[in-house]
Amino acid sequence: MIDLHCHILPGLDDGSEGLEESIEMARAAEHDGIEKIVATPHLFRDNLTYEDLSVIEEKKDELNQALGAENINVEIFAGAEVNISHHLLEEIRENRSYLTLHQSSYMFVEFPPDHVFSGVKELFFELMSEGITPIIAHPERNSVFIHHPGSLYELLQMGALAQANSGSFLRRYGSTVESAVLRLLQLNLIHFIGSDGHNSRSKAPRLSEAVRIAASLIGEERAKALVTENPQAVLDDQQIPDYPEPIHPEEKERKLRVKLPGFLGRNKK
Ligand SMILES: [Fe+2]
Repeated sequence: MIDLHCHILPGLDDGSEGLEESIEMARAAEHDGIEKIVATPHLFRDNLTYEDLSVIEEKKDELNQALGAENINVEIFAGAEVNISHHLLEEIRENRSYLTLHQSSYMFVEFPPDHVFSGVKELFFELMSEGITPIIAHPERNSVFIHHPGSLYELLQMGALAQANSGSFLRRYGSTVESAVLRLLQLNLIHFIGSDGHNSRSKAPRLSEAVRIAASLIGEERAKALVTENPQAVLDDQQIPDYPEPIHPEEKERKLRVKLPGFLGRNKK
C-alpha cells in the first residue's frame, strides 16, 4: 500500500518529533503493509515557517538513509499539506516543486475545520490553469463538507480530488466524522485513503483496517485502489485509474424518494 498523507519527517511540524520516532512510524507502517509513504509536512499553517523549503527534501533523504540502515522496507517521498490561502497562487508559482506531491501536478490542500472560504472555486480554477490538481485533504473533517456534501461535489466536478483519513473510518475523530466519511465514500467523493499519521502511537501510519471497512461498502477492488493504484498514479503523475462518477448527494436522495412509492405500491397489492 501507499500512504499519500503522513507527517513522518522529523522535527518539521506537529508530526514526528525526531528521527527515532520517524523510524518507529515507518516500522508501524511496514507492519501494516505500507511500502511507500509520501511525507506531507504542513505548509503555511498558523505560525509554522521554514527558512528554506529545501529542508523537506533534505529530511526525506536523511530518513530514507536511516530506514535503509534499519532494514525497514518503506520508501519515503517528498510532498506537503498546503494550508489554503489567498496567496496560494503566488506560492505555487514560486515553490511549485516543494508544494506538490513528489513534484507531480498534484497538491494537497487543507481547509480549516469549520469553514470553506467563498473564493475557493476561483482559486481552484486558477490552480488548475497552472496545471495543478488539488487534492482536498480529509474533507470528512470539515463541518461545511459534512453538512453540505454538495459543496464538495461541486469542487470535484471542477476536477479536484479528495483524500480521507484512515482514522475517520475507525471513529478516531468521533461518530459525525465517521458517518461523513462513509457517506462521502458511497457518493464516490473519495479517491484516496491516507493515514495523516503524526506519531508512532495513537496516530501511527496505518491503512489496512480502514480499507477493510471501505471494502464492505464499495467492494474490495475499489477499496484497495484507494491505497494502491490511485496514489501510485499520483507518484507517476498520471490520471488516477479508479475514478467512478461522483454522485450529487441530493440526486441520490431524490432517486431514493422516487423509488419509494413504487416499492410501497407493490407491497400493497
Ligand atoms: Fe495532515
